Amino acid sequence: MTNRSTVILGTGSHAPERVVTNGDLALQVETSDEWIRTRTGIRERRLAAPATTTSDLAVAAALPALAQAGLTPADIDLLIVATITPDTPVPACACHVQRKLGVPTHAACFDLNAACSGFLYALDTAAALLTSGRYRRALVIGAEKLSGIVDWQDRTTCVLFGDGAGAVVLGTSDEPGRGLLGTRLGGDGTNAELLCVPPPSPGERGPFLRMRGKEIFKLAVRAMDDAAREILEHHGLRADQVSLVIPHQANQRIIDAIAEYLELPPDRFFVTLDRSGNTSAASIPLALDEAHRAGRIQRGDLVLLVAFGAGLTYGSALLRW
Ligand code: UT7
Repeated sequence: MTNRSTVILGTGSHAPERVVTNGDLALQVETSDEWIRTRTGIRERRLAAPATTTSDLAVAAALPALAQAGLTPADIDLLIVATITPDTPVPACACHVQRKLGVPTHAACFDLNAACSGFLYALDTAAALLTSGRYRRALVIGAEKLSGIVDWQDRTTCVLFGDGAGAVVLGTSDEPGRGLLGTRLGGDGTNAELLCVPPPSPGERGPFLRMRGKEIFKLAVRAMDDAAREILEHHGLRADQVSLVIPHQANQRIIDAIAEYLELPPDRFFVTLDRSGNTSAASIPLALDEAHRAGRIQRGDLVLLVAFGAGLTYGSALLRW
């Protein structure tokens, strides 16, 4: 038994070109820039062109991640796409990505649906498979085209979401204390109906994403705070030892509440929400890539990832960069 740990070799992300501002949405539904900004922190979001698929976004995020890792698609033997908006229900989005990127046919390819916690679930799954020694290099992508399942006539949801993708290339290291230190994942199916895509009734439009926002908000704050505390405690670390927190980007007020509970200054949290909206499984890897490329994460830094989403699902991960 070796002490092999999972390390991030490269990060990448992609945001579609089209910017939709709060003002643009106010022309479509009864809302205002002021309401959206003060209730959520979102100013604008990126939306993919109608012909663009989730696998297109995923590939665009994967390429810079591979380049940064100094690897090519031929080096990948495990490909996981975390998404709730695959191009097709079957085959998996990962298989579309495999074909477009040219990942070899001996690679294992599958999707993982844990909604906004999907990237953390995929990271944990890939880490288990890599450290078992059965795979060498993993490409883990969070990618979403949420614009395809949003009801653009429902102001309570359409102002919140965006499209995008983020990716990491993973390998292993024998260096002690480096890489993914641990994860904490959980779920609660008893609250499934609070955030879901129900089948439309006869004559109804859809299927569309439906959410009971207020209830989700409270559960999100509690679950993310618990997930952050539990993982820190498990590793004998204090919150103030964390260099950067990358939270799921759903609502600035949720992020502020977690910062307050953990007694951390707001600048310890990396935020893309104002420009990206909520991109579900893409949200954390997209922010991670931006933070990394902006020089906000240095070697040796302790990075905390924390998420909450439909399911309900939640999770946290601790990385020593
Ligand atoms: O990624 C998965 C996790 N998702 C989340 O974490 C989302 C969690 N929830 C939230 O972020 C917030 O609950 C929302 C941003 C969705 C809503 O904020 P809120 O402070 O909970 O507002 P609310 O739903 O209680 O609505 C307050 C009022 C309502 O009007 P009345 O009933 O007080 O007259 C809504 O109809 O705001 C109204 N409202 C809007 N007004 C203008 C709802 N949406 C809008 C809108 N523009 N877009």
